[in-house]
Amino acid sequence: MHERCLDQNLPDLVQRIHDQLLPGLRLHSADPHDPVRVLSLRQPWRSLGSGNYAAVLNHPHHPDLVVKVYAPGRAGWEQEAEVYRRIGTHPSFTQCFHVGEGYLVLGRLHGTTFYDCLRKGIPIPPGAIADIDAGLAYAVSRGLHGNDVHGRNVMVHQERGLIADISDFLEPQPCRAWQDLRWAYHTVYRPLIAPLGLRVPGPVLDGVRRSYRLYRRLRAWGEAAGPPARLG
Ligand SMILES: Nc1ncnc2c1ncn2[C@@H]1O[C@H](COP(=O)(O)OP(=O)(O)OP(=O)(O)O)[C@@H](O)[C@H]1O
Ligand SMILES: [Mg+2]
Repeated sequence: MHERCLDQNLPDLVQRIHDQLLPGLRLHSADPHDPVRVLSLRQPWRSLGSGNYAAVLNHPHHPDLVVKVYAPGRAGWEQEAEVYRRIGTHPSFTQCFHVGEGYLVLGRLHGTTFYDCLRKGIPIPPGAIADIDAGLAYAVSRGLHGNDVHGRNVMVHQERGLIADISDFLEPQPCRAWQDLRWAYHTVYRPLIAPLGLRVPGPVLDGVRRSYRLYRRLRAWGEAAGPPARLG
């Protein structure tokens, strides 16, 4: 898009996206709170992960680039492109190299999401938390908001923390996701999960994710209702 792309073959990738990937791709997003399902994908494309809005795909001839394709009916690719434009270059983030209708070409991050670290028992070092804090402070300095920074949107790579998904950073309303995740890291992960090397099964993590969403909704209602009326 605006940065120099390390992959000299970016035009080839864009051609492949239009000739092979998009015509053979079927994405299904039943609910905006659950990950997009990849129903069909042409060889040799591979899926690297899905969020609630988009799937992230990779072609073996372009190992350092990914294509983030938004599911039908899920908006946001233009806003995400704008966020990457404002972020520019910073070690906590990847870069956007091309924007097409409904998709972005991003630099590939070779890390593991916090969510997968918990599932697989991969350590999350405290320095990764500090890196993400630094990345978020930088984003704020660029007029952005650290929104929706949850366990599937942050990664660890070689002990460093990365923010993999900045699609909601134009949203100005306050979001406590990262604050709460950081709290859970210091209160539950460091004293309990890390020393015992525990692996947390996916269904348990999904249960925590759903409970947390409910908790956030209840808290938002509580805040909207204001303090309880004084008795007497
Ligand atoms: N640049 C990247 N390199 C490698 N893998 C990535 C990259 N970006 C995202 N991923 C993987 O794809 C998954 C989905 O991507 P992403 O979080 O950007 O989608 P989303 O639909 O915007 O998510 P959300 O539900 O948080 O809005 C991530 O959890 C991560 O596993
Ligand atoms: Mg995400």
